[in-house]
Amino acid sequence: MPPITTSGTTSGTTSGDPGSSTLSSQIGPPLSGIIQAPGDKSISHRALILGGVTVGETRVSGLLTGEDVLCTAAAMQAMGAIIENRSGEITISGTGIGGLAEPGTVLDFGNSGTGVRLVMGLVAGHPINAVFSGDASLNSRPMQRVLTPLLEMGAAVMGRDGGRLPLTLQGARTPQPITYTLPVASAQVKSAILLAGLNTPGHTVVIEPRPTRDHTERMLRHMGAEIDVTKNPDGGRTITLVGQPDLMPTDIRVPGDPSSAAFPIVATLITPGSQITIEGVGMNPLRTGLFDTLRDMGGDITILNERDQGGEPVADIHVKASELQGIDVPPERAPSMIDEYPVLMVAAAVAKGPTIMRGIEELRVKESDRISVMAAGLRSCGVKFEEHPDGITIAGADGGIAGGAVITTHLDHRIAMSFLILGLVTEAPVTIDDASPIATSYPGFVAHMQALGAKLQP
Ligand code: S3P
Repeated sequence: MPPITTSGTTSGTTSGDPGSSTLSSQIGPPLSGIIQAPGDKSISHRALILGGVTVGETRVSGLLTGEDVLCTAAAMQAMGAIIENRSGEITISGTGIGGLAEPGTVLDFGNSGTGVRLVMGLVAGHPINAVFSGDASLNSRPMQRVLTPLLEMGAAVMGRDGGRLPLTLQGARTPQPITYTLPVASAQVKSAILLAGLNTPGHTVVIEPRPTRDHTERMLRHMGAEIDVTKNPDGGRTITLVGQPDLMPTDIRVPGDPSSAAFPIVATLITPGSQITIEGVGMNPLRTGLFDTLRDMGGDITILNERDQGGEPVADIHVKASELQGIDVPPERAPSMIDEYPVLMVAAAVAKGPTIMRGIEELRVKESDRISVMAAGLRSCGVKFEEHPDGITIAGADGGIAGGAVITTHLDHRIAMSFLILGLVTEAPVTIDDASPIATSYPGFVAHMQALGAKLQP
């Protein structure tokens, strides 16, 4: 899919990663080397969306060119934004808030829940109609959580039962500001409401009972919007956006994705004798719960060169192989590491003693039901665990882990990468049935892991 017009190097996925094919990993030498974390997926979506409604030219460096993000780029182009790739620097000439054109084609978001939910929010505040669809995984995921507040703001929807995709959204002709308390801790729902609030007069207010990633708030502020965030006595936050701001075009340097860095970090911790450095990792405190958890388990993780990059904290991370101990993961940490539980389950499988992960029922509505899909794969690799409705307790290794299984990945990139990491320490190789979804979030994963010395083979 080539949605970004190129004038320089081409855009698109970047590595020699295979297409839809099996891939295996096995025990090899200690991992070593230095890699650059790939661009943050959440921030990349937001840069394209907000740049797409800014008057003037937004320049973005370090944008993730994973398939999820390319779908968002294509959607913004279909609604009038001009997006170009000039030798790796992406420029966006936006339509201005209120200026989105009605797309002439179905907006296909592939595997991307973030892309579709955020763009539905943006469309809901504009007087246009758009049809949204995705792959089999995305079309089975719940959208009602986003549609409920958007309908309150004046949008209308025609979709499948349970608000599932494909659906048609009719944006509000006269959008109304709302005050909305999130029923689930979700940055996607929060962001969808704020994006709808951009073309809405007055104050759009979102109350989140537990803080979730705040990239939308940070980027809006960076672009000059009036947005106020207050901490509530119960630990939550109230976010107030003043509608119809003049967003200023800015330069955005996308930090590396901590959710992608999680894979080589866990690989290094569990592979004896390893030590690596990952440069330029985003350290937004609402994203770094995994690093705290791995350190609580005894992981040797050092944060170096902390710096600010366009309103987001960034650092380099040095990791050394460590003897991990099982722990009780604090459930309130879940929003800050929600995408990292699959790879944490791998670390927990190798650790000594049980690791208890509760309060993570949201994992059941991600790209797959990540609790039961991980449980099935772990079982076939010989890992002992107990599954709960809201989580999983992993027993921890008592001797080696057998491996030797073929894992069904259910179109889920993080399941695919997690089991390839587990295979680096199992007695027999682990094979995943389909490596293609890896390109949605970390197109250079295989190349990076191989450069560090990992034995990954088709
Ligand atoms: C994301 C928010 C999270 C996360 C997803 C990216 C975002 O989803 O799982 O991968 O960029 O806002 P929820 O907000 O639904 O928890």
